Amino acid sequence: MVAFASQTGAAERIAWLSANALSGAAKNLVRVAALGGLTAQDLSDAGILLVVTSTYGAGEAPDSARAFVRKQMAQVPMLKGVSYAVLSLGDRKYDATFCGFGCGLDRWLASAKARRMFDIVCVDGDDDTDAMTKWSEQLNKLGANTNVEQLMPGAPQDWLLAERRLLNPGSPGGEAWHIALTPKDPAQLNWTAGDIAEIWPRNRQADVEEFLDRHKLDGGLSFRWAGHWMFLRDIIAHCRLPQDYEVEGISLDWLVERLEPFALREYSIASLPGTGRMELLVRKAVKDDGSLGLGSGWLTQGSTIGGVVSLRLRPNPNFHAPADGPQILIGAGTGMAGLRAHLLYRAQKQLGDAWLLFGERSPATDLYYADDIKAWTADGTLARTDLVFSRQGGPRKYVHQLVTDEGARIKSWVERGASILVCGGLKMAAGVEEALVAILGEDKLDQLTQDGLYRRDVY
Ligand SMILES: Cc1cc2nc3c(=O)[nH]c(=O)nc-3n(C[C@H](O)[C@H](O)[C@H](O)COP(=O)(O)OP(=O)(O)OC[C@H]3O[C@@H](n4cnc5c(N)ncnc54)[C@H](O)[C@@H]3O)c2cc1C
Ligand SMILES: Cc1cc2nc3c(=O)[nH]c(=O)nc-3n(C[C@H](O)[C@H](O)[C@H](O)COP(=O)(O)O)c2cc1C
Repeated sequence: MVAFASQTGAAERIAWLSANALSGAAKNLVRVAALGGLTAQDLSDAGILLVVTSTYGAGEAPDSARAFVRKQMAQVPMLKGVSYAVLSLGDRKYDATFCGFGCGLDRWLASAKARRMFDIVCVDGDDDTDAMTKWSEQLNKLGANTNVEQLMPGAPQDWLLAERRLLNPGSPGGEAWHIALTPKDPAQLNWTAGDIAEIWPRNRQADVEEFLDRHKLDGGLSFRWAGHWMFLRDIIAHCRLPQDYEVEGISLDWLVERLEPFALREYSIASLPGTGRMELLVRKAVKDDGSLGLGSGWLTQGSTIGGVVSLRLRPNPNFHAPADGPQILIGAGTGMAGLRAHLLYRAQKQLGDAWLLFGERSPATDLYYADDIKAWTADGTLARTDLVFSRQGGPRKYVHQLVTDEGARIKSWVERGASILVCGGLKMAAGVEEALVAILGEDKLDQLTQDGLYRRDVY
């Protein structure tokens, strides 16, 4: 059995690819299962168990496995006959909690006397070829026939920046930008509401050319880099530009080896592919020293209209539309991005029966996509809209308080089968969850999570 616990789809994808690679060799089909739906008995029956998981929050399990943590991991079952291994996805920028949940799960399985087949493999970010090579080698020892290329996500594709518009001039909050991109390859116009765009920040082209000229380097040479063949010009575009003293006197191979790639940045897609373009809602991050965040700075300022933006689509099944029934959409700030994609989908399918609860700072500047909201209200997509603004005089009020105030109505929507989607910042999402637990109870929210009726895209 390959079990997965995934928030934004990466672990789920690798779990399936690993199982498929093993199924080729195994006499029986390898079963793939969401960890959150398993009991200790299921684990005990697995025989050989591979777990692919990510870590969220601060060292916690992805949403779908949180009830598993509370209910199954609170005890130590006897899993003596089970042989297991864990692939743990994480990000070293989370430092002390790097791969925290995966490591905890690995220890828990060992404490239940399951046999660890090999040490936990910890993966740092989406493009950790070293860790994924280790995993693919271990899969092959179990009888699979795979390699790291098959398990890594594909290369980012070239998209062009088509439009950039500041949505909230004069806002008391950070700048929010509407960004529209068109793909060079129309086949890329293929995603579902809830999916994510991974953007690979880059240096300004002029800075790259200047660097190449200064060091007399041929930008057209190809190198194998991050699992793909790329031109030196493009590799350098996606890395911190080295100081002169880091470059002088070393071979080109060494230079390429030493380059420090920028990490990808994720953005919830705010549109559907039918329009021929992808739209994002991006908050420009400004650091204490006044410099801009790498990804948001590149999208909202560094890139040029008509210029290339490297982008990889990431399916995010955990935030796909749960069902066509009634739906409560809750979010704040740039969380409107993910909610908008779902409302566009519902409008397209004429589903109606949706309720938007959204919070921002000022009604005068921060009601993004007001025209869309008006249109969704007029065509019946939105049965109800509640907005809350924290900076309109009087005591500050936020969206989680709106949820609390609307508790009775939320309960009745859930009783008639409504799904709940939450999109936006972690703090907002934590407050909303606390409010939902108070309204519905923890068991009901667990049940909604297991049934795929409570889904979050939070960051
Ligand atoms: C699933 C998902 C969906 C997302 N969707 C959206 C979305 O729709 N819209 C959106 O705007 N964002 C979204 N994000 C967040 C986005 O991915 C980025 O995290 C965000 O844009 C900031 O990245 P950045 O590269 O601009 O800033 P970074 O360079 O990563 O900096 C971010 C912050 O870190 C701090 N920081 C970093 N380096 C320093 C330093 N040297 N000194 C001081 N402070 C520092 C600063 O506070 C800075 O503002 C999403 C994230 C996830 C995981
Ligand atoms: C809001 C948020 C919190 C995260 N917290 C952690 C963490 O505490 N430790 C860690 O190693 N990784 C953390 N990560 C990184 C994820 O584990 C990593 O991106 C992983 O590849 C996601 O896999 P998934 O798509 O299967 O959920 C976090 C990511 C996000 C967006």
